[in-house]
Amino acid sequence: MKTIKKVVLAYSGGLDTSCAVKWIHDTYGAEVICFSAFIGEVKDKKELVQRARSAGASEVYIENLKTDFVDEFITPALWARAKYEGHYFLATALGRPLIARRLAQIALREGADTVAHGCSAKGNDQVRIEVGVRSLAPQLRILAPLREWSFSSRAEEIEYAKKHNILIEATKERPYSIDKNLWGLSVEAGILEDPWVEPPVDTYFITRPPELAPKKPIYVTIDFKKGIPVALNGRPMSFTAVIEQLTDLGGKYGIGRLDLIENRLVGIKSREIYEAPQAEILHTAHEALESLVLDRELLHYKRLLSEKYSELVYYGLWFSRLRKALDEFFASYQNRVTGTVRLKLEAGRVNVVGRKSPFTLYSEGLATYSARDTFDKSSAEGFMKIWGLPYEGKAKSK
Ligand code: ARG
Repeated sequence: MKTIKKVVLAYSGGLDTSCAVKWIHDTYGAEVICFSAFIGEVKDKKELVQRARSAGASEVYIENLKTDFVDEFITPALWARAKYEGHYFLATALGRPLIARRLAQIALREGADTVAHGCSAKGNDQVRIEVGVRSLAPQLRILAPLREWSFSSRAEEIEYAKKHNILIEATKERPYSIDKNLWGLSVEAGILEDPWVEPPVDTYFITRPPELAPKKPIYVTIDFKKGIPVALNGRPMSFTAVIEQLTDLGGKYGIGRLDLIENRLVGIKSREIYEAPQAEILHTAHEALESLVLDRELLHYKRLLSEKYSELVYYGLWFSRLRKALDEFFASYQNRVTGTVRLKLEAGRVNVVGRKSPFTLYSEGLATYSARDTFDKSSAEGFMKIWGLPYEGKAKSK
């Protein structure tokens, strides 16, 4: 087996990856460089560096990749209406290929022979990172310490960290596995592993319980330009700022909570809790605008592709040609998705209450039941005759 000399580790600052720095160094005698991507979780940069160094990292890369995340991952996911199994907005799944790409780039730049990650052997994230890295730089070796080491509990890891003076978070941990980024938050494990148990209050981090939401609903307008949110309540701002503000506002109203049984790629059914007020509100708004400006056939066909797209993202196939081709399809008509959507936020819910666009296909003259009607009623009869021609009398025969 070839020896490992230099490793770039996707480092979160948590217990697993902190132990992994030391463990890789001791097990393989390799130099370990840490890489942390900031894509929406608030972390203290200095603390992260200290922790990585205390575990033996020779270098620590910390990069703010929020803009790349929004432009290259969230935007296409919004356009694609990406929701795995119809519900999950794919926050975690969208973040991984970005991390994988940067991990591979840093490894190549540093002349490393290996990349490493802190994903477990049972999840989807290992697939996304590893398939991502392999798609971009197949020559890199991939290490997954959590699949190799002999720690069998977090307690053992804590003991290991203490023994080796590795700095770990002092705050009492919640007993869940959590992943957070700009597009939402995923929570699993602990008591949630019993699918009959209602998620306790401490399962939720960014949303209030809907019963504690303000009693008075609030109205919000979102302006879109070519498919991109450009203003909130008439105030121009970046898409990132829209996301951040809607996370706070939607969270206050308890919007975007999900409790799902999900089919993992690795064949396991798992119980997952999600919070994504921003994704719920923005998908609702974008969809409302598309339904105004796109024709029926395009809208219907899109649904089929959304399903496939969501699977590709979930399955770690971000770097596939099909995903790219589908993105081109969804992008091809966004130049019409310009306009304003008015939404009403109330406890646990977001409802569309108004939409307008210079590209609207809605014709009040055609739709109205009033005297202003412009629809040619005389053609209706002929339309039915021809439309129903193949079926005439056919219901009689067996
Ligand atoms: N089940 C979700 C997914 O596969 C969330 C994974 C969450 N990851 C985590 N480390 N908690 O995308």
